[in-house]
Amino acid sequence: MNKVIEVTCLDLWYGRNQALKNINCSLPENEITALIGPSGCGKSTFLKTLNRMNDLVPGVRISGEVLYRGKDIYAPGTDVTKLRKEIGMVFQKANLFPMSIYDNIAYGPRIHGVRSKVELDGIVEQSLRDAAIWEEVKDRLKTNALGLSGGQQQRLCIARALAVHPDILLMDESTSALDPISTGKIEELALTLKKTYTVVMVTHNMQQAVRISDWCAFFLLGDLIEFDRSETIFSMPGDKRTEDYITGRFG
Ligand SMILES: Nc1ncnc2c1ncn2[C@@H]1O[C@H](COP(=O)(O)OP(=O)(O)OP(=O)(O)O)[C@@H](O)[C@H]1O
Ligand SMILES: [Mg+2]
Repeated sequence: MNKVIEVTCLDLWYGRNQALKNINCSLPENEITALIGPSGCGKSTFLKTLNRMNDLVPGVRISGEVLYRGKDIYAPGTDVTKLRKEIGMVFQKANLFPMSIYDNIAYGPRIHGVRSKVELDGIVEQSLRDAAIWEEVKDRLKTNALGLSGGQQQRLCIARALAVHPDILLMDESTSALDPISTGKIEELALTLKKTYTVVMVTHNMQQAVRISDWCAFFLLGDLIEFDRSETIFSMPGDKRTEDYITGRFG
């Protein structure tokens, strides 16, 4: 199995508060890794270290190594814009721009230099198809994206992330604000996407982690307690704390 991300001795501090403690793990290509653990344990922080989104937080300090396809993403001279194109992110709440559906999707490709209308049309259609929302929006591409339902907006955010052809998709509780039907659509989508992309998703929903993840990482107070195949984590976890969490004894 190919490791697309390798994390070694990763520590992260927000000021004096250490949010990640000596994290070591590798994320496999074309599989879904779920990050689970109680609120405040460092899931989002860890996810954001993978495409350097924490760089934007004042007072943050990071040590250790994150290799993306063998290259240290924290090395001086790293092109962070390019990194975030390769490693895209979808957040808990849809964060579309107040512009048309078409322009939301075309935004990233335009920034990366795509000018041809024919090419942009192609990218927009393909991204919307890949995010399983093309049929619902193809007749209103020029209307404001904020007029869509929550579930549609979230799939549009996924389409926007896909439009720049990323390699890895990071998802931070991307279904937590959605109804079961929209959630199901996004879960199905994630299962399809992993054929082409590597997916890393934070979830508070244990059933969701069981349903769709191949690997699972359990965090507690900044420590990575256990990282294993999801079937192992959810049937015979190696650590008592993992067991207590997944059986709902705390968190
Ligand atoms: N921008 C920030 N500045 C300072 N401290 C932060 C910042 N973001 C997170 N933290 C702290 O780092 C720790 C980990 O937070 P993080 O958001 O990664 O947790 P989480 O596991 O994603 O929690 P949740 O499930 O509630 O989203 C917490 O103690 C949090 O208060
Ligand atoms: Mg979080």
